[in-house]
Amino acid sequence: MNRPLEITSLTKIFQTASGPYVAVRDFELKVEPGEFVCLLGHSGCGKSTVLAMIAGLQRATFGGVCIDGKEIDEPGTDRGVVFQAPCLLPWLSAVDNVALATGQAFPEYTRQERQKQARKCLELAGVGEAFDQHPAELSIGTQQRVSLARALALDPRFLLLDEPFSMLDSFTRFDLQDTLLEAWEQSRKTVVMVTHDIDEALYLADRLVLMTDGPGGRVGDIIDVPFRRPRQRAEVLEHPAYYTLRARIIRFLEEHATPQEVRLAS
Ligand SMILES: Nc1ncnc2c1ncn2[C@@H]1O[C@H](COP(=O)(O)OP(=O)(O)OP(=O)(O)O)[C@@H](O)[C@H]1O
Ligand SMILES: [Mg+2]
Repeated sequence: MNRPLEITSLTKIFQTASGPYVAVRDFELKVEPGEFVCLLGHSGCGKSTVLAMIAGLQRATFGGVCIDGKEIDEPGTDRGVVFQAPCLLPWLSAVDNVALATGQAFPEYTRQERQKQARKCLELAGVGEAFDQHPAELSIGTQQRVSLARALALDPRFLLLDEPFSMLDSFTRFDLQDTLLEAWEQSRKTVVMVTHDIDEALYLADRLVLMTDGPGGRVGDIIDVPFRRPRQRAEVLEHPAYYTLRARIIRFLEEHATPQEVRLAS
């Protein structure tokens, strides 16, 4: 049961109008149970493609992703996914959006039990008074909290997050990062999160996986994040290793930036 998530030789080739495009090539990673990993890299390097293959939303061309030795070939309730945009069902209230997910993972629950579980997850995700409101009535930040609650409602082993906070202003983003950390401290789910934001990655993750630029994006470097938990933002910012690690990440990204003309030609 407690084996790592194993990603081996993961490769994705897209067929495009101008021929095959190798988005990801030989991506290798093991993620330990309960670990929080952030995936960082330039736009287009293949982060979302890797996450989509872990989620089972896309099939690998070669290689694969294994959970407990079993290769993933479809989505499952063991993996809760949150995307950049909230994607809630507009005709359902916040609590019903979340209860729908609870029903998928726990079909044996009565309607009352689903609602109870959904409310618990909404509370954990910091959705205060908005349980009965519809997505259009909620701010993007609150909608994204509901999305997080919906993923948590599956009680999944894995949380897969694709830039979940990138549409938010920085204060709301800080709030949501703290909510995510609290939820993670309580549940210790295994998290794989894609982000563009170096400070966000350093604040949240146990390990940072830096991807080389595409085509053929793969793991270029892995950085252990040494800050103790539970984390306080101010303490992390004042840690002597913070700016050294930040500089290392920026240097990596500068060294692995593929010039636009090379990318377009491939
Ligand atoms: N369905 C598809 N068909 C063809 N090419 C695709 C498809 N999906 C993604 N790609 C290409 O694969 C590469 C990797 O895309 P991906 O979305 O995984 O990048 P990313 O690292 O998540 O970028 P961003 O940071 O901008 O979200 C890109 O060049 C993209 O154009
Ligand atoms: Mg992406």
